[in-house]
Amino acid sequence: MGHYVNFQDELKKRTDEAEAAIRQYLPPEEGFAKTMAEAMNYSMCAGGKRLRPILMLETCRLFHGDEELVRPFMAAMEMIHTHSLIHDDLPAIDNDDYRRGRLTTHKVYGEAMGVLSGVALLNYAYETMFRAFDMAPGDSRVIRALRVMSEKTGIYGMLGGQSVDVENDGKPLSREMLDYIYEHKTSALIEASMMTGAILAGASEEEIAAIEKAARNIGLAFQIQDDILDVTSTSEELGKPVHSDEKNHKVTYVTLFGIHKAAQQVEELSREALGILGSLNQKNEFLCALTEELISRRK
Ligand code: IPE
Ligand code: IPE
Ligand code: MG
Ligand code: MG
Ligand code: MG
Repeated sequence: MGHYVNFQDELKKRTDEAEAAIRQYLPPEEGFAKTMAEAMNYSMCAGGKRLRPILMLETCRLFHGDEELVRPFMAAMEMIHTHSLIHDDLPAIDNDDYRRGRLTTHKVYGEAMGVLSGVALLNYAYETMFRAFDMAPGDSRVIRALRVMSEKTGIYGMLGGQSVDVENDGKPLSREMLDYIYEHKTSALIEASMMTGAILAGASEEEIAAIEKAARNIGLAFQIQDDILDVTSTSEELGKPVHSDEKNHKVTYVTLFGIHKAAQQVEELSREALGILGSLNQKNEFLCALTEELISRRK
């Protein structure tokens, strides 16, 4: 990673770019539904690593795509992801009180507004993605990206994973079912992010398939590291409660394999992703550096 001695500065630039794209598309806080717009923006503006929009833009750059067209999709992805967090924290799911360093949405606005603003954010993601047609009317890449974003979010994607996750609280789980959960609740949105960057940039079918595979590995590694941080970090550092998995009697990579082996898997899966990225004709050094940095992330 010699090329990226100043990785933190480069990451900051990308985080600011993602932040700007997100803010461009937030709902205005006005009218009778003003409170819901505020609840939507409360969580969207609380920070967060913005990893998914960053991965989307960098994958678009890898294939030399039009960055303007990607911006509404970057914002939409962060809306879908933030929706998943607002709902994940609800009393009916993980019942957590802090997120991104603040009280959770339902703690501030109440449970009804937590449910409604979460699902409104999910819908606003689609409203936002359709705005890409203003820039590129009838563009088949935009249609394809919309399809990938919606499929990776729904029953065959993130929401499918979340449903199997909650259904199995407190139950023993096989490695196969745990992998299904991680590949869906976490990898699916990372796959959608990177695939959308590739699709909008006009990458080939082979390239899109390679990106999907790399993203699956990055996502699995990301979730395993999330499990590790749930037992090794602090709520101050994470901005969300630690020991949430223990509280909810979750089987995780940490409970199945222990912290040391889980950390080895994070490294292996990330190396696998780096191998796939390295096999492509195009290169994006920052994307590789980011994948590498995620192995040892502390938040
Ligand atoms: C948290 O995602 C949920 C998981 C999939 C582990 P992030 O760790 O990306 O959360 P933010 O967006 O930075 O808050
Ligand atoms: C959730 O996994 C993944 C989502 C789709 C939200 P977790 O329940 O482990 O995420 P955190 O730890 O609350 O961020
Ligand atoms: Mg959860
Ligand atoms: Mg949770
Ligand atoms: Mg977690």
